[in-house]
Amino acid sequence: METSAVAAALGFLLLAGAAGSARDEAREAAAVRALLARLLGPGPAGNFSVSVERALAAESGLDTYRLSGGGAGTRVRVAGSTGVAAAAGLHRYLRDFCGGHVAWSGAQLRLPQPLPAVPGELTEATPSRYRYYQNVCTQSYSFVWWDWARWEQEIDWMALNGINLALAWSGQEAIWQRVYLALGLTQAEIDDYFTGPAFLAWGRMGNLHSWGGPLPRSWHLKQLYLQHRILDRMRSFGMIPVLPAFAGHVPKAITRVFPQVNVTQLGSWGHFNCSYSCSFLLAPGDPMFPIIGSLFLRELTKEFGTDHIYGADTFNEMQPPSSDPSYLAAATAAVYEAMIAVDPDAVWLLQGWLFQHQPQFWRPAQVEAVLGAVPRGRLLLLDLFAESQPVYSRTASFQGQPFLWCMLHNFGGNHGLFGSLEAVNQGPAAARLFPNSTMVGTGMAPEGIGQNEVVYALMAELGWRKEPVPDLGAWVTSFADRRYGVPHEDAEAAWRLLLRSVYNCSGEACRGHNRSPLVRRPSLQMDTTVWYNRSDVFEAWQLLLKAAPALASSPAFRYDLLDVTRQAAQELVSLYYGAVKTAYVNKDLVALLRAGGILVYELLPALDEVLASDSRFLLGSWLEQARMAAVSEAEALFYEQNSRYQLTLWGPEGNILDYANKQLAGLVSDYYTPRWQLFLEAVIESLVQGTPFQQHKFDQRVFQLEQAFVLSTWRYPSQPQGDTVDLAKRLFLKYYPRWVAGTL
Ligand SMILES: *[C@@H]1O[C@H](CO)[C@@H](O)[C@H](O)[C@H]1NC(C)=O
Ligand SMILES: *[C@@H]1O[C@H](CO)[C@@H](O)[C@H](O)[C@H]1NC(C)=O
Ligand SMILES: *[C@@H]1O[C@H](CO)[C@@H](O)[C@H](O)[C@H]1NC(C)=O
Ligand SMILES: *[C@@H]1O[C@H](CO)[C@@H](O)[C@H](O)[C@H]1NC(C)=O
Ligand SMILES: *[C@@H]1O[C@H](CO)[C@@H](O)[C@H](O)[C@H]1NC(C)=O
Ligand SMILES: *[C@@H]1O[C@H](CO)[C@@H](O)[C@H](O)[C@H]1NC(C)=O
Repeated sequence: METSAVAAALGFLLLAGAAGSARDEAREAAAVRALLARLLGPGPAGNFSVSVERALAAESGLDTYRLSGGGAGTRVRVAGSTGVAAAAGLHRYLRDFCGGHVAWSGAQLRLPQPLPAVPGELTEATPSRYRYYQNVCTQSYSFVWWDWARWEQEIDWMALNGINLALAWSGQEAIWQRVYLALGLTQAEIDDYFTGPAFLAWGRMGNLHSWGGPLPRSWHLKQLYLQHRILDRMRSFGMIPVLPAFAGHVPKAITRVFPQVNVTQLGSWGHFNCSYSCSFLLAPGDPMFPIIGSLFLRELTKEFGTDHIYGADTFNEMQPPSSDPSYLAAATAAVYEAMIAVDPDAVWLLQGWLFQHQPQFWRPAQVEAVLGAVPRGRLLLLDLFAESQPVYSRTASFQGQPFLWCMLHNFGGNHGLFGSLEAVNQGPAAARLFPNSTMVGTGMAPEGIGQNEVVYALMAELGWRKEPVPDLGAWVTSFADRRYGVPHEDAEAAWRLLLRSVYNCSGEACRGHNRSPLVRRPSLQMDTTVWYNRSDVFEAWQLLLKAAPALASSPAFRYDLLDVTRQAAQELVSLYYGAVKTAYVNKDLVALLRAGGILVYELLPALDEVLASDSRFLLGSWLEQARMAAVSEAEALFYEQNSRYQLTLWGPEGNILDYANKQLAGLVSDYYTPRWQLFLEAVIESLVQGTPFQQHKFDQRVFQLEQAFVLSTWRYPSQPQGDTVDLAKRLFLKYYPRWVAGTL
């Protein structure tokens, strides 16, 4: 298909801000001015003039910004075809002309005086219609406890990065509750169905129900309120919020109210038993399907309005009851038809994860059945993990349905330095050049945020570039300069080492999931291989410490120094674990005691101490967020426990153990360390008594500790203690020489 044919198939989907009135332009410009004032303060914001002019996109039909002015006595003029385009232009100016930086860990916005002049005019159009953000899971791993202040920051970050399409999924359970009550379910049945807040993402995809619930009444009220504010703000920038739609999953209680209803019980998911998974799927041919689907969408859009794009995932990591293409086509069509019954302009946003997650099920005939069941242009696919396992290239560009090239990057919101910057850099441009490509944009779909900011900075930039960044080495160097506010050759060199090591992963070893022994339940079988040369991490550590006297006043530098120190500690845990294992195999008790003793009594406590020096690495801050979302002490305890479960056991029995692992002060001292202690005791006992190490017995005992951590009500500090630079240096002076000498 030629581009024009794609455009015809996608219809209005491709017309950027086509239907804008002067009033919309004024509203979007005002939203960007307000963002500017939040970012720089009201005084400095006055040095900019911001306008939104739809006409800027007249030529290309794509979001466009234009920068001009600046220099002594002249305001910087930022114009965009939408509010998002203007915000992206503003970000471009702050980044490339002023050396500024805005990231999750904070912003560096010391601007030159006067503001640098833009020579002539700089006009830039995005190469594609959409820049998308979020994964269904991000809502649980990262956003679950957010208040409006935190959401506001995030939406600002989205606008600055030019994101114009994002999920807005808060508050949907409140709407579902209305629908279920209207259908005749009791409140008790509904309470029994919803998962707890920290597990809603999987409830929404039909993977789970009931686990970690019920949702308190206050939860629904607060989420409704939040959702209204989120939608208002997103729309004020001209962003398109994606609302949820009915995918076919229903509470079991539906069968009590409607005994004739045709449902199929799906299989279990994620090692959960059927008390929490094996959800019920309504048959596509059942007359209740369009009724429930339309009731929900009508109630939802009555409450929130609509921008006509809806997300729904019926078979995400769920084996469909039949592989018969006619069944899959019917199941897909039913979801779409329930949408257009309420909104004739509906477009369905589908996470394409299922196709690459279960490739043995999703053969060409099965994939075609889904893609062909919705009119062309009305199914918008997220090629969710395209930097690693793209689906467009083996489905003839999703059989002509439009798709977004998305970087997934992170699973479970783990810490751990990781990324494949080369693949990310090349991917979108290559997808555009694919024969008959139907790519209509790019996206970022991490399961969790607040880690590896460099990867997201690159991906966000690519949303506005036609070509890859020409030289990643140069790019990462300027990234470091902007991040810290001044160029420093040691910091730059550190970043180039990180680029060629942790951030250049490829192949099977790299799946965006931290499998370091540090964050895993110990055993004698742990894999410690990594895709990079550990020397590069240790050298980067040394270089950052060399830069510390000059850069220590930069919050981003302190964050990175801590993050690299944390990474070095993670490497050291692997090395000491390896020494423990070797000593055990060699029946060398002295060596075992030495390596194990350092690991448990020196290294892990020192890691916890350095993490405790930064509010961005505190379990106390993490849990405090959960507690703050509550309206009573009982609720605070309940939310805190939800949060602890998600970080650790991920289910009542460690069902998805440590999937969402983090490296936070408190978690290291009271969760990872005790289980390493227990492990060490068990291997010592095994060695001394000459009996085999029994993993099964150890697992049972360590589960008691893990569970005790989850159920504990201990309050952790939410204020940092100690100086990061001093503590990092202390760790470095102790361990770096041992690494270099190869004598642990
Ligand atoms: C692209 O589409 C055209 C027109 O439908 C078709 O003739 C051609 O074979 C396609 N190319 C590829 C590589 O699929
Ligand atoms: C912008 O304007 C403010 C107040 O008018 C002024 O104090 C400031 O120095 C100007 N420049 C920058 C770079 O903020
Ligand atoms: C599922 O597991 C939970 C928690 O371990 C247990 O309480 C429940 O009885 C189990 N349900 C079934 C159906 O086995
Ligand atoms: C129930 O739905 C399934 C799947 O669509 C279908 O094969 C079956 O015939 C239906 N059963 C009845 C009794 O309608
Ligand atoms: C990343 O690794 C590839 C080989 O897998 C290599 O060709 C490339 O130069 C590396 N990039 C950097 C920045 O080191
Ligand atoms: C890792 O890097 C160090 C330091 O640059 C070098 O001496 C060593 O040979 C490298 N190891 C491998 C396996 O490439």
